[in-house]
Amino acid sequence: MRKKIIAGNWKMHKTNPEAIRLAEQLRKKLEKNPPQKSKVIICPPFTALSVVSEVIKYSSLELGAQNIFWEEEGAYTGEISAKMIKSAGARWVIIGHSERRKYFKEDENTINKKIRLALQNKLKVIFCVGETLEEREQNLTKDIVGNQVEWGLKGITPAELKNIVIAYEPVWAIGTGKNATPEQAEEVHAFIRDILDALIEDNVGETVTILYGGSVKPENAEGLLAQPDIDGALVGGACLKADSFYKIIQAGEKVF
Ligand code: 13P
Repeated sequence: MRKKIIAGNWKMHKTNPEAIRLAEQLRKKLEKNPPQKSKVIICPPFTALSVVSEVIKYSSLELGAQNIFWEEEGAYTGEISAKMIKSAGARWVIIGHSERRKYFKEDENTINKKIRLALQNKLKVIFCVGETLEEREQNLTKDIVGNQVEWGLKGITPAELKNIVIAYEPVWAIGTGKNATPEQAEEVHAFIRDILDALIEDNVGETVTILYGGSVKPENAEGLLAQPDIDGALVGGACLKADSFYKIIQAGEKVF
């Protein structure tokens, strides 16, 4: 059975007091009604990792960061290392998010370096892939996603793949309110499993947890999470309120 995961990417939201409040609200909801079928991960901004880590210390919630730099340490002003996020309590890191690809020009090579460094530091990775609207309209979805998976995971062994979760996040669905239909997402998820079989090892694709991300909300979560190849969600906007994030977790409990 693949691990089911509901993850919240807080992006550039929440000051420390706001982050503490949100983490506390969520912790309380989950204490009352602990999810039986899925793991819940929250990914606050770097500045809030330590304080959120304290809040969720004795809970089932796990902590992730949204990025790391690809070198262990050094003269890289403004960057944050794998060891730094670990020391702040993170066990997970999101790598290759489309916002980093777009605004910070991250390419497959830098993403691959970050993934390798994260794994060397015993962090678990949420590796994001996804096509733009233009690419989808040109029928390039599989070429683009296939390429991202191939180059992002270059040199990754089957053993290392156990610590990687893939998030399929079509760029056109992120923050737009326009989610992929369950069928559209399912098709790409199944395709990613085939690519993993071809690139890494026969039958390894069916063992990898693949999340969908892009305008996941309480209203559409059930339909998406009920798909056989969708193992969870990477949630943006709807994770910024404990109520809506919790409803998405509950949708997973219903259909997983
Ligand atoms: P939204 O849920 O706001 O569309 O964001 C998705 C996302 O980018 C999660 O990483």
